[in-house]
Amino acid sequence: MNTVLVTGASGGLGISLVREYLSRGFKVFGADVVRRPETDSQLREAGGRYVFFETDVSNPESVNRLAELVSHETDALDILINAAGIIRPESEFLLEDFDIEGSKKLFDVNALGPLRVTKALIGLLRRGSKKLLVNISSEAGSMTSHADYINRYDYCMSKAALNIQSVILQRYLKPEGIRVLLFNPGWMHTPMGGPDAPVNPDDSARGIADLSESLRSRPDSYMYWNYNGTERPW
Ligand SMILES: NC(=O)c1ccc[n+]([C@@H]2O[C@H](COP(=O)([O-])OP(=O)(O)OC[C@H]3O[C@@H](n4cnc5c(N)ncnc54)[C@H](OP(=O)(O)O)[C@@H]3O)[C@@H](O)[C@H]2O)c1
Repeated sequence: MNTVLVTGASGGLGISLVREYLSRGFKVFGADVVRRPETDSQLREAGGRYVFFETDVSNPESVNRLAELVSHETDALDILINAAGIIRPESEFLLEDFDIEGSKKLFDVNALGPLRVTKALIGLLRRGSKKLLVNISSEAGSMTSHADYINRYDYCMSKAALNIQSVILQRYLKPEGIRVLLFNPGWMHTPMGGPDAPVNPDDSARGIADLSESLRSRPDSYMYWNYNGTERPW
């Protein structure tokens, strides 16, 4: 049975990715700070194919414990998806008023968190058959097309850091046949995206899963995609 691990699994996109991969027959490992009862009830029909681990991706001990617990469940991970992320709604300020010190936690979750999780789980990913690492970025990480996020220094900088992290990882892991992909999931109707957002996270999750499957065996194809199959400019 194929395996996938999704961080941010209790969140809007995370739960949609969990459901999408369960519907594709995977065993799914979810990691998030808290387990949500409504998520559990939605996943009851998975019949043991969903395992949740309380994990804080900004905490090294927590991430190492995740890796240890997952290794008790499986010898190999086919796909790793780093979807956990935060945004500070109050952070859209002009330079003069921007709270720089208050941004550090966001960096620890959005930029260092995925690297921490990837480092801890790379051994399992190396033994997987699909050899796919997916990092959930944003249009906010694009140098040329982040206009909707103007004056949101911390979020944009954290996603740009995730983008270059993914490029470095792709260069390092390519000789081993591991594919690294970056996705902008769209402006989604989730707790982060809010009620006015146009994109259903289920549609985003389906697009990400479809594209991942078609791109993983094309090592020289473009890396940074919108969920709907168009290329995101760097
Ligand atoms: N929503 C959008 O429109 C949009 C657009 C572009 C990109 N994205 C990206 O897409 C991803 C998913 O977004 P979403 O809309 O699904 O957000 P969401 O609904 O807020 O879900 C994010 C999940 O990550 C969890 N999380 C936060 N900090 C964590 C930590 N330290 N360790 C583990 N899990 C943690 C959150 O838990 P808590 O709720 O407890 O904090 C939440 O369950 C994020 O990376 C986001 O930046 C979203």
